[in-house]
Amino acid sequence: MEIFVCDNYEEMSFKVAREISRQLTVKPTSVLGLATGETPKGMYRKLVKMYKQKIVDFSEAKTFNLDEFYPIKRDNKHSFKNYMQKRLFEEVNLRPKNCFIPDGEAENPNKECQRYEKELSHSGQIDLQVLGIGENGHIGFNEPGVEWSSVTQLVELEDKTVKKEFNTTSGVPNKAITMGVKDIMGANRIVLLASGEGKKNVVERALKGPITQEVPASILQLHPKVKVYLDKEAA
Ligand code: PGA
Repeated sequence: MEIFVCDNYEEMSFKVAREISRQLTVKPTSVLGLATGETPKGMYRKLVKMYKQKIVDFSEAKTFNLDEFYPIKRDNKHSFKNYMQKRLFEEVNLRPKNCFIPDGEAENPNKECQRYEKELSHSGQIDLQVLGIGENGHIGFNEPGVEWSSVTQLVELEDKTVKKEFNTTSGVPNKAITMGVKDIMGANRIVLLASGEGKKNVVERALKGPITQEVPASILQLHPKVKVYLDKEAA
């Protein structure tokens, strides 16, 4: 595992965007695993800028997002579909048919998990997986206690996770469809990014503590190719 401490959020965002851009230069048909949340917003801004400067080309790439709330309308302002449309998909030359994200409107969530898992395996290995980390150590929406062998599944979210997105736990989704730990660990390379004082404690537990299901991100210690980008506060 390589750990890079960046001076600030902007530098961290740039370096992770550069990882993605290099990946696409070396292999234009790359399969990218993508994350949502506060942390990667800067990374997406940099990627869009790089695209407009013709530094990066997404025309042959495929993307798989880690997770989506369930149930949620695709056009809900909290949906990850909406997040991705606005921050990346509508801004660069990714082909819509190559952008995969679990469907929060699917009638049968378990069938949707199976469908997503199938799409994932048909696409071959994820070349580069981008990850954030939750304050409870989750990766994707794999909350503490998750099975290491998990694949895409419907999960119940911790109240804190729900509150972070919706500021409440009532009348909002408390479940999500998420790629499993096994899917994430199957990626050829992983970049994890974390920013801010609030992540310092969990970053330390995940990277230096025991490998435990109570801190799902700690499993990354066993992956052969992980780069961690932190700003000073998270480090
Ligand atoms: P955040 O979320 O970037 O909004 O802090 C990270 C995560 O929950 O994976």
